[in-house]
Amino acid sequence: PLLRADVVTIFPDYLAPLRLSLIGRAIETGLVGLDVHDLRTWTHDRHRTVDDTPYGGGAGMVMRPEPWGAALDALVPPEAEATTRVVVPTPSGRRFTQAVAAELAAEEHLVFACGRYEGIDTRVMAEAATRVRVDEISIGDYVLNGGEAAVLVILEAVVRLLPGVIGNPASLTEESHAAEHDGLLEGPVYTKPTSWRGLDVPPVLLSGNHGAIAAWRREQALEHTRRVRPDLAPAALDGVDGVA
Ligand code: ADE
Repeated sequence: PLLRADVVTIFPDYLAPLRLSLIGRAIETGLVGLDVHDLRTWTHDRHRTVDDTPYGGGAGMVMRPEPWGAALDALVPPEAEATTRVVVPTPSGRRFTQAVAAELAAEEHLVFACGRYEGIDTRVMAEAATRVRVDEISIGDYVLNGGEAAVLVILEAVVRLLPGVIGNPASLTEESHAAEHDGLLEGPVYTKPTSWRGLDVPPVLLSGNHGAIAAWRREQALEHTRRVRPDLAPAALDGVDGVA
């Protein structure tokens, strides 16, 4: 496979949607190898305990280090350390972006560690980071109950970038956040019919003038990005392309 992914979670069923649709097909065709593991596999007590109360007090529970240590030892043996990246979804990580997705798509082996409760004992990733690359990643400035939904998001964004997963690779360079479009958001899109409920397709799109179409799309993308995500509209583009 181009990419192998191991996911460790206490809710393996949560990752079932990865077997569907585009990622599912990439798995079936062997482009992607996916293994989902139950963290409790690496517990040894009768109750298969994975969490405990936080030292120093406070609300909630913290995941104990022993099962995580054993899981990472099993999934990242010494000979795999150099070629593996451990990804820990957490609201306190660095922000996940299209650039991070591209970075992860270039790896050969990703291990996702899904925390629940108030997080994983800090020593787990401190120790892991002495021998393997560890990346704490947040998919946005909001709090989920655990990392599982974030893994669904991250893997969908990563797998579609692998060569051969998307039928028409041009769609990757024409979409929102594409470097080829200065990271701008995509503007409006239209298909048939040319007139629908009194709303017409902009005539330039029917003109056959590819230069004019590209210029119009660029202008629309800039305008839209400035309106909804001014933080993404590079100041270097101010006054460029005829948009005030
Ligand atoms: N786990 C809980 N909240 C998260 C977030 N915002 N991003 C990634 N993982 C999370």
